[in-house]
Parts: sequence; C-alpha cells; structure tokens
Amino acid sequence: MSDANAKPLVSAVDLHKQFGETPVLRGVNLQVHAGEILCIIGPSGSGKSTFLRCINQLETYQAGRLYVGGELIGYQETGGRLRSISNRQVVLQRRRIGMVFQQFNLFWHMTVKENIIEAPIRVLGQSPAQANENAMRLLERVGLAAKADAYPMKLSGGQQQRAAIARALAMNPDLMLFDEPTSALDPETTGEVLSVISELASTGMTMIIVTHEMGFARQIADRVVLMEEGQIRHEAPPDQFFGEQAPARLRAFLSTIH
Ligand SMILES: Nc1ncnc2c1ncn2[C@@H]1O[C@H](COP(=O)(O)OP(=O)(O)OP(=O)(O)O)[C@@H](O)[C@H]1O
Ligand SMILES: [Mg+2]
Repeated sequence: MSDANAKPLVSAVDLHKQFGETPVLRGVNLQVHAGEILCIIGPSGSGKSTFLRCINQLETYQAGRLYVGGELIGYQETGGRLRSISNRQVVLQRRRIGMVFQQFNLFWHMTVKENIIEAPIRVLGQSPAQANENAMRLLERVGLAAKADAYPMKLSGGQQQRAAIARALAMNPDLMLFDEPTSALDPETTGEVLSVISELASTGMTMIIVTHEMGFARQIADRVVLMEEGQIRHEAPPDQFFGEQAPARLRAFLSTIH
C-alpha cells in the first residue's frame, strides 16, 4: 500500500472533456499513488475509457488539470492559461505510460516479438539486440516465449492480450492503464490474462484498471472507484466498496453485473 502523504503519481483535478456538445468527463477528481492499484467500474458510457485515453493523450481534455508524475499532461501552463505541448513532448510524456486495450491492438503484420521491440527501438533508442533480449524476458514472464515468432492472428485472444501486455511493459512504464483487458476473451483465457496482471501487481507497478470482473477487482485493487456520468461518485477499499455498507446506488449497480 502506498504512503498517503506522498505526491500522487496520477492526479486529475476537476477534469472536463466533451465530444462536440456532449460532456463526457464532468469534473473528475482522482489521485493514484505510486504502487497503488486502482480499479474503475461503472456503467457503459460513463467515461471510463475516455478518462484512461486522456491520461495517455489519445484524447485531449478541455478544462481542469491532469498530472502524471507531477507533470501537466498535454499542456503547458503559463499564467493560468493552457497551451498544447508539441508532438515531441507528447511522445515523451506518453512513453512513461503503458496502455492495454480491450481489443489488444497488436500490429498484424509483425510477429509477437517484432510487436514488442518496435517502440523500444524507435522511441527509446534501444539496440535491436537489447530490445530482443528484453522482449524474450518479457515473453517468458507472460508465458509466451514459444510464440515469439508467431503472428498475432495465429494466437488465441488470451495469448494476444498477454503479448500486448508484454509490449506495453517493454517501454518500462511507470504506470499501466488497462481498459477492460479481458472483456473480449472467453472465460478460459480470461484467467490467464488476469494472472499475468496479478503477477504484475505483485511487483509494485502502479495500475489503473477498468474492469467488469468484480471478483478480480476485489482481490487485486487497493481502491475501487465508481464512475458515473463522467464523475467519480464513490471510492473505497475493496472490502468496503463491495461490502454491506456501500451506498444503495452502488449496490444497485453492482447487482446488475454480478
Ligand atoms: N470519439 C468519440 N466521439 C464522440 N463521442 C464519443 C467518442 N468516444 C466516446 N464518446 C462518447 O463518450 C461517452 C463515454 O464513452 P466511454 O467510451 O468513455 O465510456 P465507457 O465508460 O468506457 O463505456 P463502456 O463501459 O461501454 O466501455 C459515450 O457516450 C460515448 O458515446
Ligand atoms: Mg470503455
């Protein structure tokens, strides 16, 4: 468990995001400390993916502030005014953050190992030998060493997702974001992906996980939050969050997914 007095690794302050006229994030306030595992749950359309995508700058936000490692994400602030940072700066900020998507998002024309070494060579400037060695170590870790030279379409969904996790880890991120990493998987392969994420949790990696797997959230999270209509409506350690004392609205939501 992290030190509550330490500076948060991720801090969202009154974060607002809209698509056209439609508000999606309506003042998100949330802090995540280094080493903490935060699970986000909430109804479809409540803004969970959008929030993760803002952290990783796949979306921009329009108001509020978002900090990772104390650094303002996506903007430079001068005299209270925000100015977009350059693409180069976006790349620099983003490389500290790994993201794993529901649909894996591997490159289809590359082998598993090529998928993993691409960004470390291109963005971090690793030598091919170094990137290869690191990739094989990560593939061992996610139980996929035998599939290093296979193309993603030859793999099961669970294997593809484990490859995607290895790819994100190859950038040595400070923070891992998971957006429903198992919801495209069948029950057999879901377990193998959840155990890889649990193993990662045991190493002290800071993680924000959007999930519908309540048993998993209960087991892995330091804190669980409910996102509704673009706001954090409730947050608590898992025992309380899923316990008898939880607010009626939360229990009603949980009863729809149990
Ligand atoms: N690129 C986009 N353009 C316009 N609207 C969008 C875009 N992306 C998301 N939205 C809208 O923003 C709202 C929040 O979407 P988001 O994907 O963040 O929800 P979610 O909580 O992740 O839902 P789910 O549980 O279904 O994944 C939805 O109403 C969605 O239609
Ligand atoms: Mg989503």
